[in-house]
Amino acid sequence: MYHGRSKLMSRPVALITGASAGIGETFARVLAARGYDLVLVARRADRLAELARELESPGNIRVETLAADLASDAGIQAVEQRLASCDALHVLVNNAGFGTRGYFAETDVDSQDQMHRLHVLATMRLSHAALQVLSRRDSGGIINVASVAGFWQSPHNVSYCATKTWMNSFTEGLGYELRARGSKIRVQALCPGYTISEFHEVMGVGRGGAPRGWWLDARFVVEESLRGLDRGALFVIPGLRYKIVVAAMKILPRWVRERVALGMSRRYRGR
Ligand SMILES: NC(=O)c1ccc[n+]([C@@H]2O[C@H](COP(=O)([O-])OP(=O)(O)OC[C@H]3O[C@@H](n4cnc5c(N)ncnc54)[C@H](OP(=O)(O)O)[C@@H]3O)[C@@H](O)[C@H]2O)c1
Repeated sequence: MYHGRSKLMSRPVALITGASAGIGETFARVLAARGYDLVLVARRADRLAELARELESPGNIRVETLAADLASDAGIQAVEQRLASCDALHVLVNNAGFGTRGYFAETDVDSQDQMHRLHVLATMRLSHAALQVLSRRDSGGIINVASVAGFWQSPHNVSYCATKTWMNSFTEGLGYELRARGSKIRVQALCPGYTISEFHEVMGVGRGGAPRGWWLDARFVVEESLRGLDRGALFVIPGLRYKIVVAAMKILPRWVRERVALGMSRRYRGR
């Protein structure tokens, strides 16, 4: 199911998925301040409408809403169609996502299926649709909101880590391909660590999983991402701590990575 408001847009347009909360909502606020017209996508139409009213009220930009479930074929198709008709598209942010907790075999398989559809299929299809438009002007960019969890695996989080690893790999491949073709279009895998949003609440866990100093502010994450897009960075990992952790994870032997994963698993069971 999907519905929304369509508007004539004259400024550069950014389409943001998962714009009803957290990092996506913050992308909407920051891109609105940069003068973009916006297309906001998520399931909660009321939240999108409220945000659209607020961002449009100074009268500088146009904001369109498109309520769609991106884990469904119909939802993905609706956003693909909107992208195809959006000549002024400059930025696509594939941000909608969620996490689950628990051993894979004990989770509800439908939730794992939806996660793969949302993180993998929606990202792939919407990137493809956006590239048709961006290629006409050979400019603009795609930001895929992955995660530092895409650089490792951990029990209780298997599908999440796997789908975010796919997002990192897909974005890296796309980036190489665009450069190989001499294209000016930029793609980015944004890989945040723990970020204050509704993510953990939706997942049914508190913020006790990490010490306070490890929590990032969504605005910091988004500003780092857009600075990265401006300079053409393929990977953006906001915050020095996370840059160090990711660098370490890349060089540690597998047996050490396994020990870290099992340690994380024990901590999770103790919560
Ligand atoms: N927060 C973190 O610690 C963290 C860390 C690393 C990466 N990330 C990634 O950052 C992205 C944004 O997460 P967040 O932290 O901002 O979480 P959030 O506050 O829970 O926001 C998630 C957004 O995704 C939308 N969404 C979820 N399922 C959807 C579906 N089936 N169809 C369309 N939209 C859907 C939600 O909107 P509706 O419910 O209205 O549909 C919401 O707007 C996710 O991809 C997440 O994996 C988060």
